[in-house]
Amino acid sequence: MADVSGYGNVLGACAVTLMALQVVWRFLPRQRKSFNGQVVWITGASRGLGRELALSFARAGARVILSARTQDKLKAVAEECAAVSPRRDAQPGDIVQILPLDLATAMVDVHAHGARANAMFNAHGVDILVNNGGVSSRSDALSTTLETDMRVMAINFMSPVALTKAVLPGMVQRGGGHIVVISSVQGKFGLPYRSSYAASKHALHGYFDSLRSEVASANVGVTTICPGYIATDLSLNALRGDGSAHGAMDATTAAGMDPARLAADILTAVAEGQHERSAAGCPRALPCSSMGISSACCSGSWSDERAS
Ligand SMILES: NC(=O)c1ccc[n+]([C@@H]2O[C@H](COP(=O)([O-])OP(=O)(O)OC[C@H]3O[C@@H](n4cnc5c(N)ncnc54)[C@H](OP(=O)(O)O)[C@@H]3O)[C@@H](O)[C@H]2O)c1
Repeated sequence: MADVSGYGNVLGACAVTLMALQVVWRFLPRQRKSFNGQVVWITGASRGLGRELALSFARAGARVILSARTQDKLKAVAEECAAVSPRRDAQPGDIVQILPLDLATAMVDVHAHGARANAMFNAHGVDILVNNGGVSSRSDALSTTLETDMRVMAINFMSPVALTKAVLPGMVQRGGGHIVVISSVQGKFGLPYRSSYAASKHALHGYFDSLRSEVASANVGVTTICPGYIATDLSLNALRGDGSAHGAMDATTAAGMDPARLAADILTAVAEGQHERSAAGCPRALPCSSMGISSACCSGSWSDERAS
């Protein structure tokens, strides 16, 4: 019988070397983009992760454009952004602007929305677009109407595509920019009672992975974020099969990551130009809110969530 132990030793040594290189790579100092003065357009900025992203970018000196449907909440977030911005000598209007829009129909008015965003802050143009706004689903495929499937796809997939098309030409013209896409671990795995949601998030990966390779030479980065559960109102606003609101806070969502910590992690990923980042759905109390590797936490009972 051939002696295979020699090959085993060589493979083992290669594996250890690769792991050591990975660890060294992870901790190498990286060039980081500064957000100071950058114009950052954030959708879904009225609450949850979008609100925390707006506050984090404002804290980092960015000028932010806040979009969602609920104008009074956007105004409240705008006041918070102005209060945390380090741009002390600036007027609130030089720090934050509100651009209300409905992502379900953003495709229709996309040129008008894009023109308005690009005209803000003395027509600076959008440097970073954060496609964060979204809606989840809570129903089995059989009892989900096609209208509900299409609504989830329009909000979660078509609107990021449309808004990206509205700002990308300006980014290319100015020599750079960044598109951020908030996907989900459900952009990687399909789970029961989430067919519309999982499909919309999977579609983001196909589209934005292709786009990343097309626009890299124009100095436009694309970062896709795949979080596990985040402690926000997502489940409350999730759509049942007939399009009505789920209206319940799922236990898994309530026990999800702290959105403020996730937002800080997302800014790091964007500053470092990371292509994709997954974040574990660990409970808020745990220190491991996010990691640089895929570590989806799929705990919980699907049927419980559907019923709750
Ligand atoms: N929470 C989680 O467990 C989780 C996990 C993975 C990924 N995500 C993703 O994280 C992103 C942010 O969600 P979240 O957790 O912060 O949920 P959230 O608290 O429900 O916030 C959703 C945001 O999207 C906006 N939005 C929803 N429908 C809209 C529409 N038709 N037009 C315009 N804006 C709309 C909402 O604003 P208005 O209602 O004021 O319009 C709100 O600002 C989403 O893309 C979601 O899929 C969430």
